[in-house]
Amino acid sequence: MQASSFFRDGAVLLCDGVSLADVARAEGTPVYVYSAAAIERAYASLDAAFAGYPHRLHYALKANSTLAIARLLRRLGSGVDANSIGEIEIALRAGFVPDDIVFTGVGKRPDEIERAVVLGVHAINAESAGEIDRIAEHTRAHGVRARVALRINPDVDAGSHPYMTTGLSNSKFGVPVERALMLCREIARNEALQLAGLHVHIGSQILTVEPLKRAAEALVRVACELRNEGVQVEHVDMGGGLSIAYDGGAGMSTGEYAGALLSIVAPTGFKLLLEPGRVIVAPAGVLLTRVVDIKSDARGARLAVVDAGMTELLRPALYGAYHRIEPLLHRPGSEDRYEIVGPLCEAGDTFGEPRSMPPIEVGDVLAIRDAGGYGAVMASNYNRRPFAPEVLVEGGRWRTIRRRQTIDELLALEE
Ligand code: LLP
Repeated sequence: MQASSFFRDGAVLLCDGVSLADVARAEGTPVYVYSAAAIERAYASLDAAFAGYPHRLHYALKANSTLAIARLLRRLGSGVDANSIGEIEIALRAGFVPDDIVFTGVGKRPDEIERAVVLGVHAINAESAGEIDRIAEHTRAHGVRARVALRINPDVDAGSHPYMTTGLSNSKFGVPVERALMLCREIARNEALQLAGLHVHIGSQILTVEPLKRAAEALVRVACELRNEGVQVEHVDMGGGLSIAYDGGAGMSTGEYAGALLSIVAPTGFKLLLEPGRVIVAPAGVLLTRVVDIKSDARGARLAVVDAGMTELLRPALYGAYHRIEPLLHRPGSEDRYEIVGPLCEAGDTFGEPRSMPPIEVGDVLAIRDAGGYGAVMASNYNRRPFAPEVLVEGGRWRTIRRRQTIDELLALEE
């Protein structure tokens, strides 16, 4: 397991040596803080696990697409998986070239397809027969050829939260395996298109390698059958899905993950693409939030109301997701149980079951762990709450990579 960038020095929590209390004081709360070193380590660990086999990591921008984070991933040699025109444009502004981009998405609009076709991205991961036709229309209109990968739906249960399970036969993603061969043949025959590969993504936060192996087997079976027919397939794209241990435990190792995928893909020789998101950025970030009230409910349960809620970190409210929470400053005294709740006018705006922690007081700052992925990107302005700032710790210093939104900016689009 990789060393964490967040550790205690006596009573205070640091990020790569930087005092998180200093950041909270200077930036105010809520604020996201990311460790560049942790992102670098996670990227290097995953990349190294596949070393010796032809592969490329296409970081899934949806996990965290703040420009400075995207630029950091580019410096590390990553490609990207973009899920919208917005993510494509951000990738370009971060310095990625079209060949670095795979474009996924279950509902691509005509303008999004056109942009991807004109740019000439590495692959458009096509989701249906109709979409293949639409890609070909745009391609002909512009006199270019588009590289297309077909997303298959292998009907494999990722065993993850139902909202993060995308490879079941009744889910909206991809095409059934039985239709994949025929559609790939059509892509290969179509002069406007080039069959770049096959794609699968069965879900996110997948706890065991078994479903990933079954999906890989399904994908490889189709790819090999095509090759046997003389249809060229360049790559197999296994999507993302690698889980992290939100309880701070060991979790699935990159070695175990790579071993499982390579045991199936390596004998074929197909180039392997991966679209990791969470594993690269989630453990590298915390959300700092200040306690604004402490009270007891009628049963005597202690509630700590904090200044971050589902508008900053939606995961607990949306999925019942668990995130560790700890005070920056460990006050002496015996632990107490607190339910940590957000400030929004929603009963679901809570960080879950009560947890034991050292005594806390109004004004104290808490760190919500593993918030670097699917945190800031899923924020909203509900209750007219401005977006929180984001800070990057790099080389022993911190800087604001996205400042707090102002009320004027919040209103800038309105009449
Ligand atoms: N590739 C595709 C096509 C995807 O849809 C996703 C994530 C990824 C790659 C990256 O998966 P990862 O390595 O991060 O598991 N909002 C949820 C997660 C939704 C993931 C959606 N797709 C959360 O907060 O946990």
